[in-house]
Amino acid sequence: MSKKVAVITGSSSGIGAATAILFARNGYDVVINYSRNPAPAEVVAEACRALGAAVIVVQADVSKDADCRALAAAVDAKWGRADALVNNAGTTKFVAAKDLEGLSAQDFQDIYAVNVIGAYQMIRAFAPLMMRNPGAGIVNVSSVASVMGTGSSIAYMASKGALNAMTFGMARALAPAIRVNAVGPGMVETPWLQQGLGAERYEASRAHFQNVTPLAATIQPEDVADACFWLCNGAAKTTGEFILIDSGFAKFPTLGR
Ligand SMILES: NC(=O)c1ccc[n+]([C@@H]2O[C@H](COP(=O)([O-])OP(=O)(O)OC[C@H]3O[C@@H](n4cnc5c(N)ncnc54)[C@H](OP(=O)(O)O)[C@@H]3O)[C@@H](O)[C@H]2O)c1
Repeated sequence: MSKKVAVITGSSSGIGAATAILFARNGYDVVINYSRNPAPAEVVAEACRALGAAVIVVQADVSKDADCRALAAAVDAKWGRADALVNNAGTTKFVAAKDLEGLSAQDFQDIYAVNVIGAYQMIRAFAPLMMRNPGAGIVNVSSVASVMGTGSSIAYMASKGALNAMTFGMARALAPAIRVNAVGPGMVETPWLQQGLGAERYEASRAHFQNVTPLAATIQPEDVADACFWLCNGAAKTTGEFILIDSGFAKFPTLGR
């Protein structure tokens, strides 16, 4: 029997890269995806190959439906199966929440195109392939921003809230063959916030997150990867769930330690 196959969008960096490596370590063949920059994708692919995985690296912008369908066709041609799909690719614009003029309608549309419609298009493209293997799992990488009113911008928070709602709808629509869940990371140490905030604000945010969370810790990409792997590979009776990975930030926001 062929090995299981995991597809992780936005897996050339951060959470996606850690997730691809974890699937590879656990015996899956993996698809590495990026939209702009091939070099880091090749580095992640090599790390996965070193763990024994067969790997394909596919450039695809998830906001483009033709790219999503081409990605599914490439996986079908190579392996004829897909057992796990992690919709991790995301985008944002850093705009202070009080700056209402700082976000245009186009900004909302650009963010929704990747964070919401991209995940939808990926699920639509992969559902027929995933239906072949009962118990297949999809995880949408949302954010604590969807439930806390914090995050890089109002448009980003709204997009992740929409992604949560889509997760619940998809869980109903694709049951019983496919389980669909979401994870909500807190502040994760990846290039995302380092680049978006700049070094000084990043360090201040990091110190703040560590100070106010009961577990006194920022999140590592591997922490999110753990949850994504469990939700796809285990969690046989869990669907339509949203799991926070935030050191207790949302549940106990003012407690600190
Ligand atoms: N970092 C955090 O604190 C945090 C917290 C909560 C949730 N999240 C969520 O976690 C996810 C990953 O974030 P990260 O921190 O790991 O970011 P990251 O390190 O910046 O990685 C982003 C990845 O997504 C890819 N990507 C971006 N746009 C894409 C598109 N349209 N199509 C396909 N791939 C695309 C990037 O590759 P290219 O640049 O080559 O396209 C890269 O591989 C995002 O959905 C984000 O909203 C992050």
